[in-house]
Amino acid sequence: MKTLTVALPGREYDILIERGLLDQAGERIRAVLPRAAKLAVVTDTNVHPLYYDQLKASLTAAGFECWGAVIPAGEASKNPGLLTELWEDFMEFGLTRTDGVVALGGGVVGDLAGFGAATILRGVGFIQIPTTLLAQVDSSVGGKVAVDLNHGKNLAGAFYQPKLVLMDPDTLDTLPHPVFMAGMAEVVKYGCIWDADFFDFLAARPSQGELMEDIEHILYTCCDIKRQVVMEDELDTGLRMILNFGHTLGHAYELAGHYTEWSHGEAVAAGMCAAAKLGAALGVTPADVPERIENACAALGLPTAISCTTDDYTAAIGLDKKGAGADITLILLDKMGHAIPHKLPKAQLLSLLNSFDQAP
Ligand code: NAD
Ligand code: GLY
Repeated sequence: MKTLTVALPGREYDILIERGLLDQAGERIRAVLPRAAKLAVVTDTNVHPLYYDQLKASLTAAGFECWGAVIPAGEASKNPGLLTELWEDFMEFGLTRTDGVVALGGGVVGDLAGFGAATILRGVGFIQIPTTLLAQVDSSVGGKVAVDLNHGKNLAGAFYQPKLVLMDPDTLDTLPHPVFMAGMAEVVKYGCIWDADFFDFLAARPSQGELMEDIEHILYTCCDIKRQVVMEDELDTGLRMILNFGHTLGHAYELAGHYTEWSHGEAVAAGMCAAAKLGAALGVTPADVPERIENACAALGLPTAISCTTDDYTAAIGLDKKGAGADITLILLDKMGHAIPHKLPKAQLLSLLNSFDQAP
């Protein structure tokens, strides 16, 4: 078993990584929620038939009374209406403050169930059991929970750390190939921003089969990086912003594709390639880095460029939390394996992006 500890004052928790761990969920959760009698398990329509019964057997054997909420799979479920329904369902189930909520699924389930756990009865115990690669390397760690509003994604939310994160890499075996590879964009991101050797390790393993052979090492490395970043800057006012490498432009591509043409991971892949090119054009990023990232993304079948109108760029830049007045702070690489914030005028950013789009 690989174990990492997220050491935050008063809210320390472990991330456990092991094949077959789902069968041990009951005893592991009992250790962190010793007084809980009831667990509300939130999952989605794809994950429920695959893993709910297996999880329930383990939770029941550990003495928990379980109730399962099944939300429709997909981003549309991360909405305030469904959150309200969950609150009512939690009360109907008889959840008390010593009980808990378990998220079994991808980032959508984790974000929605986490916000539900943070807010019901002013907060109950929360357990993350992520089942997508993206959720295992990113969304289940660090305590960001949220729902989307009509004005944009993740606009209503909280920082609410889980009591435990349980990762069973075997659950990734049932992921559709594009969903697995979308998660790889975030994995590659960790290499780009923090660990050049890890980037090279990934670049040498372009197939899902090769990556799954080393999946525990990959999950451990990504979660260790995220853990260190979160421990230094839990509330996202400084270092944590480096996790947004590729995301400002990625959001523009998601917007351009009306959130249906490109998955978040695909948009982030193209966003990292564009950010590397921008960095090189600004003299911040070494000249060989853009091609290295493009080659790594292309080998994984991820897009390396997505065309986008000036309006979509402008809208995404306007929404970006790192934008202030006429300037925006982008996360750029000053070398492979290291990210820095770089402030530049929004007008300069738009003109550089347009020049890339017009390049032959
Ligand atoms: P997702 O939760 O929609 O899951 C992707 C698809 O995979 C869904 O259809 C789901 O039903 C299916 N699925 C999940 N596990 C499966 C399994 N083991 N086998 C087969 N199918 C499975 O998407 P995601 O990519 O996991 O997460 C995206 C969400 O995460 C977005 O809402 C994003 O905003 C959020 N996010 C949050 C954070 C954070 O820090 N909280 C970070 C990054 C992303
Ligand atoms: N996914 C970005 C963060 O957790 O800050």
